[in-house]
Amino acid sequence: MKLNKKPKHIVILTGAGISAESGIMTFRDSNGLWENHSVYEVASPDGFQRDPELVHRFYNLRRQQLLSGEVHPNPAHLALSKLQEKFNGIVTIITQNVDDLHERSGSRNVIHMHGELLKMRCIETGRSLTIKKDIHATTPCPCCLKEGNLRPHIVWFGERPMHMDKIDTELHSCDLFVAIGTSGHVYPAAMFVDTARERGVQTIEINLESTQISDSFDFHLVGNASVETEKFVEELLT
Ligand code: OAD
Repeated sequence: MKLNKKPKHIVILTGAGISAESGIMTFRDSNGLWENHSVYEVASPDGFQRDPELVHRFYNLRRQQLLSGEVHPNPAHLALSKLQEKFNGIVTIITQNVDDLHERSGSRNVIHMHGELLKMRCIETGRSLTIKKDIHATTPCPCCLKEGNLRPHIVWFGERPMHMDKIDTELHSCDLFVAIGTSGHVYPAAMFVDTARERGVQTIEINLESTQISDSFDFHLVGNASVETEKFVEELLT
C-alpha cells in the first residue's frame, strides 16, 4: 500500500467483521435468521409492535453476551485506539456496530450510526438511557415511568441511521477513508466510499474477502481485521 500523500484526517468505517474475532457473529453469517426468526421480526418497528417481548429477548441475549466477560476488544480495535492516540491529525471512527468494543479499547468520540446495545430509548420523550440489565415489555421506563415505553436504541430496518449530519461533514473533510469488516450490503454506509472518492480521497478496504463494493476502493487489504489493521496502523505511524 503506497499512499499518494500523508493523510491529516482519516475516517474509518467499521462493520461486524471487526468484532468477529471478539466472538460476535456477523450479520451475513447468521443467514438472516435468529433462533428461526427472521431478522425483520426482531429488527424492525413492525416486529417490535407485533411482539415486543420477543424483540426485548433478542437484545437482552445480545447484551448479556457483550457483558459476559467472554467478549473483549481484539487487536483491530486496539490498533485503532492506538492510531487515535498517536496519529498526528484527526482519526474519526464511524461504526455500524452496536457493541462497545471500540470504547472499551480506548477509542474516543465513536460515531454509532446504527445505535448502541447498552442504551434504551423512551418512545415518548426520545431520551436515551444507558441500561445493562434485561428489559421486558412490561418494564417501566425510568424516564416517563410508563410500562412498555422503552425500546432498544438501535436503528431498525426502515429507520434512518443516526448522526448522518456529522457523518456527512466527516466524509466531506477527510483525506483518507478506510472501511474495515463491512460487506457493503447496507446503505447509506455502503455509499460512504463513493462520497469520499468523488472528492479524490484515497480509500482502503480491509476485509477477509472481496465485497460487492471492493471495486470502489483504491487498495484492498485482504485478511483478518486484527492482522491487517495492526499492519496498516503501524505503517501509518512510521
Ligand atoms: P456483515 O455481516 O454484512 O458483513 C461482515 C463483513 O465482515 C463481511 O464482508 C465479512 O467478509 C467481513 N469479515 C468477517 N470476519 C472478518 C474478519 N475477521 N476480518 C475482516 N473482515 C471480516 O456486517 P456489516 O457490513 O457490518 O445493521 O452489516 C451492516 C449492517 O447490516 C449492520 O450494521 C446491521 C445489519 O443490518 C443494523 O443493525 C441497522
